[in-house]
Amino acid sequence: MTDKHPIRILSGIQPSGVLHIGNYFGMMRPAIALQSEGEAFYFIADYHALTSVRDPTTLCENIHRVALDFLACGLDPERGALFRQSDVPQVTELAWILSTVAPMGLLERSHSYKDKLARGVPPSVGLFNYPVLMAADILIYDSDIVPVGKDQKQHIEITRDLAVKMNEAFGQVFKLPEPRIQAATEVVPGIDGQKMSKSYGNNIDIFGDEKETRKRVMSIVTDSTPVEAPKDLSRSTIFQLYSLFGSNNEIVQMREKFQEGGTGYGDFKKQLFEKLWEYFSPMRKRREEILADKSYIDNVLAHGAKRANEVADRVMQRVRAAVGLR
Ligand code: TYM
Repeated sequence: MTDKHPIRILSGIQPSGVLHIGNYFGMMRPAIALQSEGEAFYFIADYHALTSVRDPTTLCENIHRVALDFLACGLDPERGALFRQSDVPQVTELAWILSTVAPMGLLERSHSYKDKLARGVPPSVGLFNYPVLMAADILIYDSDIVPVGKDQKQHIEITRDLAVKMNEAFGQVFKLPEPRIQAATEVVPGIDGQKMSKSYGNNIDIFGDEKETRKRVMSIVTDSTPVEAPKDLSRSTIFQLYSLFGSNNEIVQMREKFQEGGTGYGDFKKQLFEKLWEYFSPMRKRREEILADKSYIDNVLAHGAKRANEVADRVMQRVRAAVGLR
């Protein structure tokens, strides 16, 4: 049987580049808010990032930077554990065990795998097996809730399928995790209106420098409605992004201005930039403070790894016993 423990919340983020506001609103902000609801385990998915990052120095820098940015955004290492995925190498053992019950067809239907192939990414076995490792990440901590953006929904469904297959084959080994997806922020659009993604190059970074951030905001794609005409709210990336940052009052005001006409997209973009810049200002300050303490991040990660290993060891003992590896 699975362990009894407070609600366990788990999520991961790949250190495959700089974090953007899609990561922030889709996962980081909800994950930070959930820290007060149970025991939070958040990790930096460096094994997963190996499917795309091939330079060791870049990978090390990215890992450090994701930890820094997540902490600066409000992750509290006293409440939750922040750790590197690879500091719990038992997940690779569990991924192997899960792969023995994972149907090929299930993985072949993975949207993210098909999307990567369509973009010309060479299909390595690791890329194909990506959802199995992700299932291991989730199941090895007996996770209850997994806060993610919508693009990860199918991966959580695969996780549940694999847990059911294991339970059918070996008895009650795993509990079934639930995704937690915020409807309002499930897909944050990038500057071209598609889902914001590092790999699409349409990202606005959380901690980009001021000039670059302004440039990115000013280059949000719009239609050619003239200044004086009313503008379509429903398809406006500017309005969607502004809705993430503005107060209710401010959002209502922008809505009215869109509907009235008389304000150009350039003005709306400036308002969006000002809000965005102000929103992340306290986090930029916190980031500087963390940076000043050279050993802080390493200590946080070491402490997080210790907590994560304790749980993973217990669960792996259960799994090994269930399948007959004693
Ligand atoms: P990753 O690193 O691509 O993204 C991290 C989180 O950010 C969310 N996200 C978005 N949400 C809304 N709008 C967007 N434009 C947007 N872009 C990214 C993602 O949904 C995700 O929640 N496979 C995972 C990492 C992972 C993981 C796990 C997550 C590995 N193991 C176990 C949860 C549980 C990934 O690549 O996320």
